[in-house]
Amino acid sequence: MYAQAYNPMMFALGKGVYEQTCISCHGENGQTNAQMELIVKPRKLNQSILSEDQSYEIIKHGAHHWGAHADIMPAFKYVYDERQLRSVAHYISHQFHPKRDEKVSQLLQKSMIYSVSIEDDMLGVGKKIFTKKCAKCHGKKGDGESRYVELSKNEDDFIYPYNLRKTLLNEDEIFLYAKYGGKFWGTHKDDMPSWKRKYDDFQLRSVARYIQKRIKQPHNKE
Ligand code: HEC
Ligand code: HEC
Repeated sequence: MYAQAYNPMMFALGKGVYEQTCISCHGENGQTNAQMELIVKPRKLNQSILSEDQSYEIIKHGAHHWGAHADIMPAFKYVYDERQLRSVAHYISHQFHPKRDEKVSQLLQKSMIYSVSIEDDMLGVGKKIFTKKCAKCHGKKGDGESRYVELSKNEDDFIYPYNLRKTLLNEDEIFLYAKYGGKFWGTHKDDMPSWKRKYDDFQLRSVARYIQKRIKQPHNKE
């Protein structure tokens, strides 16, 4: 879950890849190139919830593989070799979001931790919340197919909910994403709202656990 120790060789190699390929969409500072008319705006890399390893997975396989609706963020495994893929993930993580790991740990520490012994209860609570609130956008099965999407997808600047069956976020990160909302983690507007006023940590932990155990599908990284 944590960034690799700073490695100047990888950093330099990754910077080269970034400037050649990624900068046109993600911009000089990782905050999205405003001139580029993208249908889906990338999350700002300097606020992203993703660890270096998770960024590598998105870069390698593309965002669609991990639950994004569109494939504007393509799979780069056909373009770059392993070392280049690892290096550009290293570069963006150290250049744009060096404090990501600390931020995630601190936010988790601030939240209450619940023991596994009450897991069954949590899954029940989580399912209720998911069905009542999250399914409206993410769909009953969590696959991102919902009436909300059908009704709103032609609106300007619509952001598709992710297919949570394919998310690469772990339980802690699902919890933090739901607690603080998309904008906090780098989206340009808050279509994915923050739920911290509506639900307490126990309830949000429960829904994160429900997504982790019942919605997410084990899937092949290749
Ligand atoms: C054609 C434009 C485009 C290019 C080129 C591109 N990206 Fe992306 N990237 C996107 C979009 C759009 C998203 C958001 C995907 C979505 O939600 O559908 C994204 C998402 C990401 C994410 C996930 C961020 C998060 O917090 O979820 C990472 C990491 C990333 N890109 C890194 C890169 C790297 C590294 C390169 C170069 C090798 C690159 N991208 C090239 C458009 C692009
Ligand atoms: C009003 C619509 C809406 C509702 C309701 C909603 N979401 Fe979302 N959610 C979204 C959108 C849109 C995104 C994509 C945001 C982005 O591009 O980063 C998203 C993204 C996410 C992600 C990030 C997935 C990833 O792989 O990056 C998680 C986790 C998530 N939602 C959990 C939840 C949970 C839990 C609930 C219920 C408490 C919920 N959502 C309710 C619209 C919604």
